[in-house]
Amino acid sequence: MTALTLKPAGAPGPRADAIVIGVAKAGTGPVVAPGAEAVDQAYDGGLAGVLTTLGASGAEGELTKLPAPAGLDAPLVVAVGLGAEPEADAGYDAEALRRAAGVAARGLSGTKKATFALPVDGPGALAAIAEGVLLGAYAFDAYKESPKDEKAKSDGAPLGEAVLLGGEADEDGAGGYQAAVDRAVAVGEELNRARDLVNTPPNDLDPEAFAAIAQAAADEHGLTIEVLDEQALKDGGYGGILGVGGGSAATPRLVKLAYKHPEAEKHLAYVGKGITYDSGGISLKPAGHNETMKCDMAGAAAVFAAVVAAARLGLKVEVTGWLALAENMPSGSATRPGDVLRMYSGKTVEVLNTDAEGRLVLADALWAASAEEPDAIVDVATLTGAMMLALGSRTFGVMANDDAFRTAVHEAAEETGEPAWQMPLPAHLRKGMDSPVADIANMGERMGGGLVAGLFLREFVGEGITWAHLDIAGPAFNDGGAFGYTPKGGTGTAVRTLVRLAEQAADGDLG
Ligand code: BES
Ligand code: MN
Ligand code: ZN
Repeated sequence: MTALTLKPAGAPGPRADAIVIGVAKAGTGPVVAPGAEAVDQAYDGGLAGVLTTLGASGAEGELTKLPAPAGLDAPLVVAVGLGAEPEADAGYDAEALRRAAGVAARGLSGTKKATFALPVDGPGALAAIAEGVLLGAYAFDAYKESPKDEKAKSDGAPLGEAVLLGGEADEDGAGGYQAAVDRAVAVGEELNRARDLVNTPPNDLDPEAFAAIAQAAADEHGLTIEVLDEQALKDGGYGGILGVGGGSAATPRLVKLAYKHPEAEKHLAYVGKGITYDSGGISLKPAGHNETMKCDMAGAAAVFAAVVAAARLGLKVEVTGWLALAENMPSGSATRPGDVLRMYSGKTVEVLNTDAEGRLVLADALWAASAEEPDAIVDVATLTGAMMLALGSRTFGVMANDDAFRTAVHEAAEETGEPAWQMPLPAHLRKGMDSPVADIANMGERMGGGLVAGLFLREFVGEGITWAHLDIAGPAFNDGGAFGYTPKGGTGTAVRTLVRLAEQAADGDLG
């Protein structure tokens, strides 16, 4: 991953291959953002004019490369758009900085070293820039190692080193700048690891392989781990996970991964949908709908990353992650539409559509998580196409059995730069899941399908336990081009929200 170093503002940077500056959009044209004064001086104060000539406006996402005049510590200046200039006295919005840093880092792939001279008015701004650089520089090249692709690989190599200007840290690191960057590094590295998991092809990441990766992380970070294999799931009566995984040659797993600070007062449980590949099962998805279904474990990847990040940050909290891992495949041993499963909770479910499998594995994991009576449960799942239709591909839906908690989760998401929206759980939709043979069916009305799925999950949350559900089907995987700090493919969505919630719980600010 890109190495980060901190330097005070205006410090003569070490020699670099490029220097990144911010450009904001004002009514009068592009304006050079604070932090870039030395660069502007090298152009005799005429940088805004040069940018105007080149057609730059300062719009968000815009990247302009220009040769540096003599006297600068780099041969190249990279001007990145920050969007509208903030009101006088207000600083740049953290998300604008994060995105701009990401755009610049992406535009600098193949570059060894760059200096970032973006506007920094405090540790929060520096942290946002650090996050943007780490997330924007991400590349997934694990499968491009054959000699024939060597060139493609080196061209796409992520930015090697970033020197961030603006940290006013003195020699003992006071001022909070170094701490802010350290946090960004821990979260950024784990978030990128979640992206790697999502991007890993499903022939290499089955439930067993995912569990082994969790085991390795547990060993590395001193986490408690318990892995239930197929036999243990049978012995325990996990009919939902077994029913979904039964069609695959790769057997399912339920992984419990726990971090606990010795002085923890709050306990959060995170539950992740971990379908390592969703073919739909016997209710097979048609071509055109299954090509990216390796992403169906993005919820489990986010939960995994958040638990490890909480441990690395040493948060004063207990966080238990539950990874519900299975591969949904059609075969002679697969669950059929019409089968009834006896779930871990004891409830029975008539499976009307084997493609509504996420709720089945989550139901067992939610019930297992509930048994520990945590202060709150948050599940994360690429659950429904309906949520994508409702909110588009960049926003996840937040549902909950508690209005205040739903609002808290939504606010935590927005605070970290993750677009989210609150969705209801209308009681009348429950009737559509009535089954003539079982306690509930795994499908209901088509309209409001994302809410129907949420209502299903709610029935498997223990009595009196606060719970929220994040449907990340849209934002988990980016089918389009890269934007801001978001690459193509796995995005790592929900990791930052989960980490933020753990921080709030640690600080006693949650519930
Ligand atoms: N994994 C899918 C949902 C999904 C769709 C995620 C597109 C990411 C992108 C889920 O298992 C699914 O197939 N849901 C069905 C449920 C339906 C059969 C009730 C859906 O949304 O169509
Ligand atoms: Mn499905
Ligand atoms: Zn699925």
